[in-house]
Amino acid sequence: MKIAITGATGQLGRLVIEKLKAQVPADQIVGLVRTPAKATDLGVEVREADYNQSATLETALVGVNKLLLISSSEVGQRATQHRNVIEAAKKAGVQHIVYTSVLHADSSPLSLADEHRATEADVKASGVAYTLLRNGWYTENYTGSIHGAVAGGAFIGSAKDGRISSATRADFADAAVAVLTGEGHENKTYELAGDESYTLTELAAEISRQAGKDIPYKDLPVADYAAALTGFGIPEGFAHGLAGWDANAAEGALFDDSRQLSKLIGRPTTPLATAVAAALK
Ligand SMILES: NC(=O)c1ccc[n+]([C@@H]2O[C@H](COP(=O)([O-])OP(=O)(O)OC[C@H]3O[C@@H](n4cnc5c(N)ncnc54)[C@H](OP(=O)(O)O)[C@@H]3O)[C@@H](O)[C@H]2O)c1
Repeated sequence: MKIAITGATGQLGRLVIEKLKAQVPADQIVGLVRTPAKATDLGVEVREADYNQSATLETALVGVNKLLLISSSEVGQRATQHRNVIEAAKKAGVQHIVYTSVLHADSSPLSLADEHRATEADVKASGVAYTLLRNGWYTENYTGSIHGAVAGGAFIGSAKDGRISSATRADFADAAVAVLTGEGHENKTYELAGDESYTLTELAAEISRQAGKDIPYKDLPVADYAAALTGFGIPEGFAHGLAGWDANAAEGALFDDSRQLSKLIGRPTTPLATAVAAALK
């Protein structure tokens, strides 16, 4: 049995490999990476697999039984990149493809969802058994801004009073491991989100409580939030993406109360207070 993970040098991929090593022998795990030099510390077999180079994918997937396809970080190129992986997996005889999609992919208003919809359709059309892990927002998307918010005196965003059911990368990694090592997940789709939801006002209140300093939430029009993010050095296209996704959050795009994630991992998802504490450390 060989389990391979794409994006193994990424933040989610590294967590999956670490958690998988605790459950299965390391020689059954293959890290698929674009840049092998970055992967010398993974502690598992590493194979070169560039989403843009089908020849590397076909070689890398030989002998692999289960594949975790972690969605690419190259927004705009992902549908093609993922298709390359799925085609190579089919050729190599992979028996189960697990794909990290986006929450409520079929109905999500997020601009990101188009590529995920395309990949979900490709996975299903491949005829290979699949599991769709429709991951919600990472809590780290917000906790990554905590130091800046404390320094600047406010937490800014455009999510209004939208409730966000985020979970940590570690929670999502546990879900991927549960599916890769468990039984009965073939041809299933899971909507994965945190057990508890919060508004950015509630997040700011938790930051204030833990930082011992009043950090209010300041809701900005989307264009102003995008401009502020650009001012922090975030590339313009990505800044507009982030601000737009926050506006989608205002309409409930990041909310889910089905608790499928905690059911899958057999424990509650990481509380927001714990994630805030980790970020403030
Ligand atoms: N749910 C959310 O809130 C959220 C937030 C951000 C991202 N995401 C999605 O979830 C994925 C995993 O998140 P993450 O935090 O682990 O992202 P990450 O740390 O940016 O990791 C992305 C991984 O994709 C690999 N990659 C990029 N282009 C590639 C290519 N052409 N061929 C092969 N590998 C390639 C990167 O390889 P290198 O190390 O060589 O660069 C890296 O290992 C992201 O890629 C993105 O699709 C979700």
